Parts: sequence; C-alpha cells; structure tokens
Amino acid sequence: MIKDTNNNKNKVPITIREMEIDDISAVYHLGEELFTSDELPFLYRTWDPYEVTDYFTSDPDYCLVAEREGRIVGFILATTVEKEGTAWKKYGYLTWIGIDEAFQRTGLGLRLYRKLEDSFREDGVRMVMADTEASNKEAIAFFRTLGFSSTRQHLWLAKTLKSPAKNQENRRTSHQKNNEENR
Ligand SMILES: CC(C)(COP(=O)(O)OP(=O)(O)OC[C@H]1O[C@@H](n2cnc3c(N)ncnc32)[C@H](O)[C@@H]1OP(=O)(O)O)[C@@H](O)C(=O)NCCC(=O)NCCS
Repeated sequence: MIKDTNNNKNKVPITIREMEIDDISAVYHLGEELFTSDELPFLYRTWDPYEVTDYFTSDPDYCLVAEREGRIVGFILATTVEKEGTAWKKYGYLTWIGIDEAFQRTGLGLRLYRKLEDSFREDGVRMVMADTEASNKEAIAFFRTLGFSSTRQHLWLAKTLKSPAKNQENRRTSHQKNNEENR
C-alpha cells in the first residue's frame, strides 16, 4: 500500500492511506461531528454508518483516510459510475470528504483528493463529479481550488410525513366538524 506522509500541524506527520475495516467507526464519528443538522441538514440526514460500510465494501480503493498519531483526522469516500455510450464513459464521484476542524486549511483535503484523483486516473476516469449543499461555501471554495468548475444547480426537496395517528386524528376532527356543521 502506498502511503503519503507529510509533516503538518505541530510537525506531527499525517499519513494518507487506504481506509481499513478498523477505521469505519472513527470515520463515521468524524462525519457525525462535521455534518451537523444546523449547518448541513441534508448531509446530516444522509450520513449514517451504512454509508461508510457500503462505500468501504464496494469501493475500498476510493476510500482514504488521514491518520495522525493513530487518530483519524480526515477521510474521503468515492465511487465510479460507468456509462456506455457517453463521451466520458467512466465518471468518478466524490461523495464524502471531511477533515477534523482542528486540521482544516492545512492542505489535508487537498492531499486526500490528489491521492483519490491518482487512483481515478489509473482506472480510466475522465471526469470527476462532486456535490454539496449550496450553502456550504467552504466546500464549494475547496472544490473550485481543486479545479471543479462546471457547476450545475441540483435541488434537494424534502417533505415531512405526518404520523398516521396524527392524520387519523385530523381526519376525525374534520369529519366531526362536518357532522357538527350538518346538524
Ligand atoms: C471542505 C473541506 C473538506 C476542505 O478541507 P481542508 O483540508 O480544510 O482544505 P485544504 O486545507 O486542503 O484547502 C485547500 C484549498 O481549498 C480552499 N479552501 C479550503 N477550505 C476553504 C474555506 N473554508 N474557505 C475558502 N477556501 C477554502 C483554499 O483555496 C485552500 O487553500 P489555502 O488554504 O492555501 O487557501 C473541509 O472544510 C471540511 O471537512 N468541511 C466539512 C465537511 C464538508 O463540508 N465536506 C464537503 C461535503 S461532503
């Protein structure tokens, strides 16, 4: 396994390496700290332990972590999509990236992405896609620095489903109201 070790904050080396099974829990918990309901509500809702295990199981080559003194301080999870009959044929899709707040803006995200892009290139990927919430200005600035430029608008929609009990209660109330009015 190729490792990329660099001196970083406080001169403690941070290693970029492929994710291992023992990292799953740490990656999930770091994501939980980053994808918060108040700042990134859609990412918060879709981030769960299965998300990490699914990517790790299906695309281990595209799951990387940043490790500092045995602690996971960053991760990137990605996949590829093959589409015959299109000009690009194979797309890379960067789905999740997260850096511990204490280590943001130290170049870690960039190092994780570069290593991922190397793997994508080796595997014949010709276009990389990424997405995030429109309000996530930091991530958008980061992606632009990496060279992502072709921006398309994509809307997330959400609908809150009322519990059946409440619906029945509402129906009963309006039914009762109608009866009262008809009396
Ligand atoms: C977005 C994120 C992954 C960036 O990682 P990072 O390690 O802090 O980024 P880097 O230090 O490698 O930054 C590389 C360049 O990207 C740009 N950039 C990164 N963060 C930025 C920010 N907050 N504001 C403006 N530009 C930023 C800068 O040009 C930066 O270079 P510079 O520091 O020399 O100016 C990190 O902020 C993060 O984990 N955010 C929370 C999770 C998240 O939103 N993930 C994306 C959606 S899945």
